[in-house]
Amino acid sequence: MTGSISLGIPSVRSQEPDVSGRPNTPLLTDRFGRIGRDLRVSLTDKCNLRCQYCMPEEGIDPLPNDRLLNDDEIVRLISIALDKLGIEEIRFTGGEPLLRKGLESIVGQVSHMTNHLGVKPEMSLTTNALGLAKRAGKLKEAGLDRVNISIDSIDREVYAKLTRRDRLKDAVEGAKVAQEVGLTPVKVNAVLMPGVNDDQASPLLAFCLDNGYELRFIEYMPLGPRGSWKRGDMITAEDILDMLEKDFTLTPLGDTVRGTSPAELWGVAEGEHPAGRVGIIASVTRPFCGTCDRTRLTADGKIRNCLFGQSEIDLMGMMRDGASDDEIADRWRGAMWIKKAGHGIDDEGFLQPDRPMSAIGG
Ligand code: 5AD
Ligand code: SF4
Repeated sequence: MTGSISLGIPSVRSQEPDVSGRPNTPLLTDRFGRIGRDLRVSLTDKCNLRCQYCMPEEGIDPLPNDRLLNDDEIVRLISIALDKLGIEEIRFTGGEPLLRKGLESIVGQVSHMTNHLGVKPEMSLTTNALGLAKRAGKLKEAGLDRVNISIDSIDREVYAKLTRRDRLKDAVEGAKVAQEVGLTPVKVNAVLMPGVNDDQASPLLAFCLDNGYELRFIEYMPLGPRGSWKRGDMITAEDILDMLEKDFTLTPLGDTVRGTSPAELWGVAEGEHPAGRVGIIASVTRPFCGTCDRTRLTADGKIRNCLFGQSEIDLMGMMRDGASDDEIADRWRGAMWIKKAGHGIDDEGFLQPDRPMSAIGG
């Protein structure tokens, strides 16, 4: 919903979001009363896997370096988010954030920051864990709290088919070292794709229980290559639950544990495997847009108020033009104020975002 300034013909689209009616608060509020407290920072649009639900086989053209935020710019934007906008949680994503050389340095600098309440933000990393084994110790030392690792199958061939790379061993090793150095709880994300890894629900849960990881299934969302997602073929939260209940005894943990986190959680009773928990993020069949508390910064310095939003508000350009922290904070507030009520994946006329997940940040 960008405003439009009429300068005769042709008309020029304004870069400023329409902020009419926005209350006078420093926080990232929107028209539906939600407050953005969880900042996802995409550190790169590059990735060393080609997960079928995310990227086409040939990959995507990466942005040139001068169009990406540099490390200092990222650190400055995070400090504005904490200091002026009330952010409480920071997640680094990508693409694959481990491909960013400055990751340890960025984490280290953010670990010395507190938010407007004087509280240190929780810092986590969403990663495919390739190469994490070597860097987990340094990341922990730099101040990272925990990791979310994508492992969609623990069968080598299925993993290679889904990610188009034979790297399961590296991902498993990365998770193990993350656990050893205390980047805990280690959470494992899995997306089930029809006809690819849809028989992997129980083996994945067994693997995670055995290793003390918390598994979360994420419903497959239309964010990958166009045409690869069909609502009718989708494996729903209910399907996943049915599959798991054949092999495990599950007890719903209810909304008290859920909080604003989108995962619905179940306790898993001890059996062949140790007891633990499993979550399902039903982004499509039970959307949680009503309690969404996220704001996203893309690797090229734009604010996306929703994964599925069609609008992006640029902060990098204004920062490079010399804008002050207060001016940047204000445009960020404006970007969140115009956040839509929901993603509408299940609605007729739903439009897939222009960018793939790797360019938006998970
Ligand atoms: N649907 C659901 N989740 C996705 N991810 C990436 N693409 C999709 C999609 N189309 C998730 C992966 C990864 C995180 C970065 O985003 O599970 O863990
Ligand atoms: Fe890479 Fe993550 Fe996309 Fe897989 S889902 S291709 S690991 S960015």
